[in-house]
Amino acid sequence: LNFSIIGVPMDLGQNRRGVDMGPSAIRYAGVVERLEALGHNVKDEGDIAISHARKEQTPNTHLRNLQDVIEANLALAEKVHEVLTQGQFPLVLGGDHSIAIGTLAGLADRYENLGVIWYDAHADLNTEETSPTGNIHGMPLAVSLGLGHDDLVNIRSFSPKIKPENVIIIGARSVDPGERELIKEKGIKVFSMHEIDKLGMTEVMNQAISYLRERKVDGVHLSLDLDGLDPLYTPGVGTPVPGGINYRESHLAMEMLYSSGLITSAEFVEVNPILDEKNKTADVAVGLMGSLFGESLI
Ligand code: ARG
Ligand code: MN
Ligand code: MN
Ligand code: MN
Repeated sequence: LNFSIIGVPMDLGQNRRGVDMGPSAIRYAGVVERLEALGHNVKDEGDIAISHARKEQTPNTHLRNLQDVIEANLALAEKVHEVLTQGQFPLVLGGDHSIAIGTLAGLADRYENLGVIWYDAHADLNTEETSPTGNIHGMPLAVSLGLGHDDLVNIRSFSPKIKPENVIIIGARSVDPGERELIKEKGIKVFSMHEIDKLGMTEVMNQAISYLRERKVDGVHLSLDLDGLDPLYTPGVGTPVPGGINYRESHLAMEMLYSSGLITSAEFVEVNPILDEKNKTADVAVGLMGSLFGESLI
């Protein structure tokens, strides 16, 4: 593959500092070398500029840093769209999960029937009305489905970006009441920790892959929040939830996605080196990228 790595040093979608250093930590963990060793071509596009001079924010909203989050996602969407037109595979490094708004906006005018795998402890389906925190990193999936603040929903001037029946959430174990309602209302496919425990990861991934094939998707984006794994393996995240997906299950999931040949873009988000133990979380992220892009054990 021909990768374009896009760093997004974003921490404005939540309130714990340090996640803006995620792209550096992932580069330090050797992402470029790891992918090149697999025979891929890798172009590091550098980072999207994120304004740290906090702008005056929209009054009367429950949306933290709204104007800056809009601005960053406009720039990211543009960049993702640009690398796609050059035939590159977008690999986006976060940054908090609010950047999925821009990634999906950039992907959506190229892929009309995009599948999305949301590997996460959370559903990220809140809106301003349902969010318990006002943190936009808890909202990107809702925004991409067309629900949320107009300026977020209409990035690149069209909405929705994706269809609810093309979304699969894997690893969910902390879902807010409003999100639960939306999952039911929209019929979003969820493999929560319950299903992973009961069926095993092999069966979960087989079902997920068949589901997306049946939907006749024209591409699949993997949005992987490192908090989807158990914090034992990825402690460097801002919103850890115990009882998560384990290390080998996660590698197996990535290896099965590689064999499926379905994945056309990916992002790895929520790596926070300040909260981490000796860059463990970024190391796990790069290891998972290895499995997603062709490493095998023998
Ligand atoms: N559901 C919670 C909220 O809306 C937590 C979201 C965490 N999201 C994440 N991308 N880590 O604030
Ligand atoms: Mn276009
Ligand atoms: Mn999460
Ligand atoms: Mn998330």
